[in-house]
Amino acid sequence: MTFFRMQDYEIYIEENGLVNLYKHIKAIYHLDRVFVVTDQNVYNLYHEALERNLLELKVSFVVVEPGEKSKSLKTYQEVISKLIKLGIKRNHLLIAFGGGVVGDLTGFVAATLYRRLPYIQVPTTLLSMVDSSIGGKVGIDLPEGKNLIGSFYDPELVLIDPSFLKTLSRREYANGLAEMIKAGLIGDKKLYQHLLDHEDVTEAEITMAIQVKRDVVLLDPYDKVERMYLNFGHTFGHAIEKKHNYETYLHGEAVAYGMLIALQIGIKYNESKQELYDEVKKLLLERGLVKEPLLKMEDYIKEIITDKKFFDNELHFIVVPKVGTAKILRLKESDFQ
Ligand SMILES: NC(=O)c1ccc[n+]([C@@H]2O[C@H](COP(=O)([O-])OP(=O)(O)OC[C@H]3O[C@@H](n4cnc5c(N)ncnc54)[C@H](O)[C@@H]3O)[C@@H](O)[C@H]2O)c1
Repeated sequence: MTFFRMQDYEIYIEENGLVNLYKHIKAIYHLDRVFVVTDQNVYNLYHEALERNLLELKVSFVVVEPGEKSKSLKTYQEVISKLIKLGIKRNHLLIAFGGGVVGDLTGFVAATLYRRLPYIQVPTTLLSMVDSSIGGKVGIDLPEGKNLIGSFYDPELVLIDPSFLKTLSRREYANGLAEMIKAGLIGDKKLYQHLLDHEDVTEAEITMAIQVKRDVVLLDPYDKVERMYLNFGHTFGHAIEKKHNYETYLHGEAVAYGMLIALQIGIKYNESKQELYDEVKKLLLERGLVKEPLLKMEDYIKEIITDKKFFDNELHFIVVPKVGTAKILRLKESDFQ
């Protein structure tokens, strides 16, 4: 078992760690009722296991539809209504039990219902283990765009149990791998090397990826400067997701194409090496994250310009000069023409 201390809470990473959830909850919470928000897939697969490990508590579930559409104002309101009907009070504990959708939605409910309730994160997808459950960003989407309403609101604890990954589809697994490859490229050569050689990840690699994000988040909890490094591959990644209406590509797939474009831009500005581009391309192809013919930068520049990513005609663009390091380039609109 590994644990990381964040500013005000702990992240526990442990294979089969679900068996210790009650113990961790008891250390921070003294009431006997908890309210679990989850999605239908995770509920079907794991509600019995969760209840078995929380036998001493009265557990109430609120179950939402799987998928991004549940990060909506409508579902937010439904979840709140159900929680109130179930008798939730301002000092009761909420548990976000699922992937990033459940984590972001439940965290936002926790941040706002009764002006804040304590909550914990129990992520069940690889992406939510290494990315969305860490860093306190919570929120929902609007018809106008993704993650437009939200807050920074830290959980009381995060429990990461990699054994949940056994039931994840290959595509969702690869989706999380993309964020791990990014973490390796910007901050941990050893992690990157492991991901080059192995398709499967264990507690050890999940821990390394979390450490990269944790270190950046501790430096910059409110996303002002250093967190920008986590955006490697995301400038074009977001443009790709948006242009295809968030339907064709999962986030990790879009970021995978985005990382290749960022490496190409790095090569253009003599920051990155062609050999690294070739190696990362081969890796992403092998993991099924990208396909040939690759998506082209030119097709997404318009999205980047219209998406207000430029401030004062300048875009902070992250490149990787060598594995384990990242750098900010300040690019102008004309640099993309
Ligand atoms: N808050 C942040 O900092 C942050 C960072 C990155 C992404 N996000 C958000 O995360 C969301 C994406 O998260 P995600 O990729 O986890 O998607 P998700 O929550 O939609 O989960 C993907 C699918 O996997 C299923 N699932 C979950 N756990 C499973 C398991 N153990 N076995 C089998 N199936 C399982 C879910 O039911 C769902 O169908 C997006 O909304 C994105 O905006 C947030």
